[in-house]
Amino acid sequence: MRIDILTLFPELLESPFEASILKRAIQSGKASVHFHNLRDYSQNKQKQVDDYPFGGGAGMVMMVEPIDRCIQTLKKERDYDAVIYLTPDGETLNQQNANRFSTLENIILLCGHYKGVDQRVRDQLISHEISIGDFVLSGGELAAAVFCDSIIRLIPGVLGDESSALTDSFQDGLLAPPIYTRPANYKGWEVPEILASGNTPKVEAWREEQALERTKKLRPDLLE
Ligand code: ADE
Repeated sequence: MRIDILTLFPELLESPFEASILKRAIQSGKASVHFHNLRDYSQNKQKQVDDYPFGGGAGMVMMVEPIDRCIQTLKKERDYDAVIYLTPDGETLNQQNANRFSTLENIILLCGHYKGVDQRVRDQLISHEISIGDFVLSGGELAAAVFCDSIIRLIPGVLGDESSALTDSFQDGLLAPPIYTRPANYKGWEVPEILASGNTPKVEAWREEQALERTKKLRPDLLE
């Protein structure tokens, strides 16, 4: 998977890709992430990328031209499966749409700033609009990092243990069951006995039951 990220602040986005699972995914060639500073696509001397809103009002608006020039430059090189704008009024990210996006080959992510982008960008250039939740961030960069993490880890071979993503919370519509590691007894806080029994079918049944219980208690909405 190739991800091209269009941003005014690439430095906000770099470190998530420099450690742990995302770093490994990139090193092994399963994902590549490329940052494009929209300022580099501005044609005027001041490298202007935003302007006052027509009709007045507070805040600046990201201009069409640098965004269009950047996207057209990328599209000359390859076809893109999706051009995604991160915005609080987009479709909410969840495990289902993360699964879907993880199967794509080439995607562009556009990070908004200030009041957002000129509506014509959204009308003419964007194929999907994604929000990471009902709250407003200072810009789309952190949302883009969250989005990338959620999809890159789903690319086959990225997680060490192939079954690991399948047992994540939400993957089967339930929260994940509790997990434990050694020691079996710490200060008298004990691990459920069944887990040390070596009886795999029983352990599996226990996990399923726990996942259901946890979901009922913490996220009953997932069961509706
Ligand atoms: N940009 C600002 N807030 C956002 C959010 N909640 N999701 C995606 N992009 C955003």
